[in-house]
Amino acid sequence: TAIHRQDYTPPDYRIETVDLEFDLEPSSTRVKARLAITAAHDRSGGARPLVLHGDALELVSVALDGRVLGAGDYRLDDKGLTIAAPPPAFTLDIETRIDPAANTQLSGLYVSSNVFCTQCEAEGFRRITYFLDRPDVMATYRTTIRADRAAYPVLLSNGNLVEQRQVEGGRHVAVWHDPFPKPSYLFALVAGDLACNEDRFTTRSGRDVTLRIFVEHGKQARTGYAMDCLKRAMRWDEERFGLEYDLDLFNIVAVSDFNMGAMENKSLNVFNDKYILADPEIATDADYAGIETVVAHEYFHNWTGDRITCRDWFQLSLKEGLTVFRDREFSSDMRSRPVKRIQDVRSLRARQFPEDAGPLAHPVRPDSYIEINNFYTATIYDKGAEVIGMMQAILGQDGFRKGMDLYVQRHDGQAVTCDDFAAAMADANGVDLGQFKRWYSQAGTPELAIEGSYDTRAGAYEMTVTQRCPPTPGQPDKAPMHIPLAMGLLDAQGQDIRLRLDGETADAAAPGRVLAVTAPRQTFRFVNVPQPKALSVNRGFSAPVNVTLAQGGAERAFLMAHDSDAFARWEAGQQFATDLLLRRAGEIQRGAPTPFDPAFVEAVGQILRDESLEPAFAAEAIALPGEDYIAERMDIVDVEAIHSAREALRQAIATSLRADLERIVAANASPGPYTPDAAAAGRRALRNVALGYLAASAAEAPGTADRLLAAYRAADNMTDRMAALRLLVDLDGPQRQAALDDFHDRFRDDALVIDKWLALQALSALPDTLARVTALLGHPAFALEKPNKVRALIGSFTAGNPLRYHAADGSGYAFHADRTLALDPINPQVAARLLAPLGRWQRFDAGRQAKMKAALARILAAPKLSPDVYEIASKSLA
Ligand code: ARG
Ligand code: ZN
Repeated sequence: TAIHRQDYTPPDYRIETVDLEFDLEPSSTRVKARLAITAAHDRSGGARPLVLHGDALELVSVALDGRVLGAGDYRLDDKGLTIAAPPPAFTLDIETRIDPAANTQLSGLYVSSNVFCTQCEAEGFRRITYFLDRPDVMATYRTTIRADRAAYPVLLSNGNLVEQRQVEGGRHVAVWHDPFPKPSYLFALVAGDLACNEDRFTTRSGRDVTLRIFVEHGKQARTGYAMDCLKRAMRWDEERFGLEYDLDLFNIVAVSDFNMGAMENKSLNVFNDKYILADPEIATDADYAGIETVVAHEYFHNWTGDRITCRDWFQLSLKEGLTVFRDREFSSDMRSRPVKRIQDVRSLRARQFPEDAGPLAHPVRPDSYIEINNFYTATIYDKGAEVIGMMQAILGQDGFRKGMDLYVQRHDGQAVTCDDFAAAMADANGVDLGQFKRWYSQAGTPELAIEGSYDTRAGAYEMTVTQRCPPTPGQPDKAPMHIPLAMGLLDAQGQDIRLRLDGETADAAAPGRVLAVTAPRQTFRFVNVPQPKALSVNRGFSAPVNVTLAQGGAERAFLMAHDSDAFARWEAGQQFATDLLLRRAGEIQRGAPTPFDPAFVEAVGQILRDESLEPAFAAEAIALPGEDYIAERMDIVDVEAIHSAREALRQAIATSLRADLERIVAANASPGPYTPDAAAAGRRALRNVALGYLAASAAEAPGTADRLLAAYRAADNMTDRMAALRLLVDLDGPQRQAALDDFHDRFRDDALVIDKWLALQALSALPDTLARVTALLGHPAFALEKPNKVRALIGSFTAGNPLRYHAADGSGYAFHADRTLALDPINPQVAARLLAPLGRWQRFDAGRQAKMKAALARILAAPKLSPDVYEIASKSLA
């Protein structure tokens, strides 16, 4: 049953303090909770029932103000525990028994490789004890943990360690106290035999903070980069936002089984170890970048999430969109800002735009949900971050900082809403964000149609912008949005023309403008303009919209070479390539391919020869748009035509630019020992994209597989090793097998690296990929209980290999349905998250549509489906 945002009511009861006592045993853990509860409502009309949430709990006893309650004093059902008419203020003692070893959902308290750990967001705390498990109930927690001393020497929870002592029976006890009131979803507990890397950080006001990263024994050496990221993030948040850490201790624990990336529990962040462990042997440059982002993200939540949290789960983007924005800003300051922007836009287009265009589209602040875990989406996170970024574009960096300061000052210690955040931004700057706030309530990606024309006689340039937002489920009609559109005009030398709108004074003229697009159709007239050569729009991707702008190859090539905005240079190349690929895909369907516009290949060649470019940027600029992006732009997706068109363009580029590509490969070989910094990573990226072109153009040539195998063998770091192997897995033959076998033997004991081995095989373009994936389900390294394995093998195939997943015979869809049904009883959250590709059936031909819908229907017909999978499958079919 669905829950609606409009039905929100404040809680009837408050819980001021929580005293927890855990007696840890893997299969039978006892939890005692003492809750200090007061009525929050006006009791003139009598007491209201207290309804505590509970899930998969065995109730041992419950006592109110010390009096043990009998079965007639409360009601238990599968949603929780109800006490009909409690007094205005009382103490409730609850004892429950749980089975962490059997908790394969990984929500609540579970055991991962002999380590007890918790994941309570969003609604996992109710799987530990009965509670008002909602984010607007904030309490201070005292946690006592009792466990076997030898098996679980490390006992952790939120806040400060109050005491630790040994007790009889080989057990020991630790007591933790968290002085900051928090919602239950931020509670955490960890117990296990863990090693730790310890460091210190002194905050700008002089607080000395102990930093610890806990990992499996023997892996401490792989935590150095994460620790360095943490310290840089702590400093950055002080400098950029004036936000300082607030306790003497900050702990991170890395575990191998985790539903998501990581979790921001107060002072005890728990991580998927994928986002902590790194050294050059096991981690790629992308892994290092991911660690930097996620470590910073979880740390930044301390203010945007923990100190100020969400009133209800409809406000999830209040903390997630804002915190993604903050981690992006951090990574942009640590690395290349344009390259970071390009990568974020690639991912937005690959994951969020399709979501916004499909049956699961929802606003950044949703209106209803069945299962909140299904709403940890690209829309909430990434579009949410775009919304925050647009506010900064409108208010400027200083204005945005003023708004953040006011937000923190007003709401520290509170559970608030997206409206509260927007109000702080508006009030601090004296602006009206009323229309802008439609970004929170309207789903769908707005479409901007842009036309420009130059009036030679008047010396004026007119740009007309029409906006339209397509209908989405439950929202047939949309009101116009406030879209900040960054743009510029280039003269024949490629210089920005200074732009002044009709009616503005001369000193308003500036080389680039951010226009406020607010009406359904709007014309901007610039005066005193010399003849422009090219129009540049949505610079820096100032708004998450799709732009239609009729531009020829010559104009796009000019922008690729000259735009003052690096993002726009990249974007011009992407749009040029997209035009060519869409046209070629159509020609393939009609059986009559024509040559590619040589201007594109020439523009790529210029990039390869431009020594002034950052290698990381050049790598992005010469990489073609992904198959998914082209698919989004086709009326009816034809995965085979897209794949062939893209391969053909790769070959055309490689054939014309072979000498340049060879030179790039030779010139960017790593000179010394591996370092993970952005500059070195950029050189590797450029070299590996170039190598990819060379391999593509000679895929049939006998020497190609040998060359890739040699590159694989010569690699002294995981980035280069993976790059060579990724190309090799598309080429059938003994070299492919030799490299895969070598990789497996070399890294067989390293779970995270074996994930890469599984993923590569699932991503292969070879026709028998599904058979190989199916065989790998039986490999000892694979387990449905382990989310990282499931994502690596099954997720890479269903979401990362459109060519083979969308096989015309429907085998990919049947495989997907089978795996979903097998996984749902084990881990419904992960099963549901993997389901999205089946929901895109409307985009395909009738034959595939029927097979995709049949797969969804078969899932829905299963008895005892989880609400997680039910929600995604039923909405996908609607
Ligand atoms: N709040 C976490 C983060 O973004 C995500 C955890 C969500 N987990 C879940 N099971 N829904 O950093
Ligand atoms: Zn987050």
